[in-house]
Amino acid sequence: MSIRIDGKATAAQIRAEIKEKVDLLKKDGFKTPHLAAVLIGSDGGSQSYVGGKMRACTEVGFESTLIEKDNSITETELLEIVDQLNHNPEIDGYIVQLPLPKHISEQKILEAISPDKDVDGFHPVNMGKMVAGIDCFKPATPFGILELLRRYEIETTGKHCVVIGRSHIVGTPLSIMLSRNSYPGNCTVTLTHSRTKNLETLTKMADILIVALGQPGFVTDDMVKENAVIIDVGTTRVNDDSRERGWRLSGDVDYKNVKNKASYITPVPGGVGPMTIASLMINTLQAAKGKRP
Ligand code: GUN
Repeated sequence: MSIRIDGKATAAQIRAEIKEKVDLLKKDGFKTPHLAAVLIGSDGGSQSYVGGKMRACTEVGFESTLIEKDNSITETELLEIVDQLNHNPEIDGYIVQLPLPKHISEQKILEAISPDKDVDGFHPVNMGKMVAGIDCFKPATPFGILELLRRYEIETTGKHCVVIGRSHIVGTPLSIMLSRNSYPGNCTVTLTHSRTKNLETLTKMADILIVALGQPGFVTDDMVKENAVIIDVGTTRVNDDSRERGWRLSGDVDYKNVKNKASYITPVPGGVGPMTIASLMINTLQAAKGKRP
């Protein structure tokens, strides 16, 4: 029998902890932390993520600002918004929700965000600091996964961790953070991707398997070792006519069958997703505190 890692409850606990800290800040006369989000276009997934981020701000006592623009925005116009946010003293941190429309260079936008306000941790300065082990804003999804491992007291030292997917948002930073000499960390990490040969041989060797691929049900029970820890980062909308809204979220892991082999496993929804938002709240509080005299 596996233990279901409850990201929803853990994230709620983290939000309650943040709220206590924010209440104290306010009591001591400090400014209320303020997160802004820039959302371009009308992608349903992005809208619901950003909506969740804004709701979490209200819950922990932050101020929040949502800037919504349609897909016709030019790169220059978006760079102007980024510049205004960089110079707005009211805003402690902000995010530009990805993906952006094809005609806008994500790299250009991410590089224009002030590293001090980059609560997503995607700016090359923060990425570089993360690689060098210097204090910085850590990317929210990897940070959230490490927090789940910590709070469930899952042993990581000396374990073989296999990560599927090498994105800049999840797989690449996670592989670095898990190989670091700390807890959670000290793993031997194998970072796999679309060109990896004999993937199944590798996944069967994993003590900890982290899947961030975006392919529903990709990992089946014959691909995992008995008692492995399974972390599913996938959140793909798949058609589901039995639901009124016509879709449901699907992870990258065949949960129903894999759970019988795993020691710990995250569900989708209610696993990694809520932790990403909780980590963003932690980073925003850090950004606000960093500005205190
Ligand atoms: N798109 C998917 N995940 C993320 C995230 O963590 N931050 C931003 N800005 N966009 C995303």
